[in-house]
Amino acid sequence: MATITVKPNGPYLVVGADIVDAQGRTFSYDASKPVALCRCGASANKPFCDGSHQRIGFKAEETAETARGG
Ligand code: FES
Repeated sequence: MATITVKPNGPYLVVGADIVDAQGRTFSYDASKPVALCRCGASANKPFCDGSHQRIGFKAEETAETARGG
């Protein structure tokens, strides 16, 4: 089962999922290991996180309860 973990003030951490672009092409990576996807918009290596969220001071601390409105 694929999992996506929302990291506080950081990327989406993905395990066990294919990552596909808008044309349906799969990004090449080792799906057996966690990979971080950028959600701050500052990465120079999108869709992957390159650590730039730390440099820009990205803030986002959503939890499942707030994301679902509970
Ligand atoms: S979340 Fe890490 S560079 Fe955007």
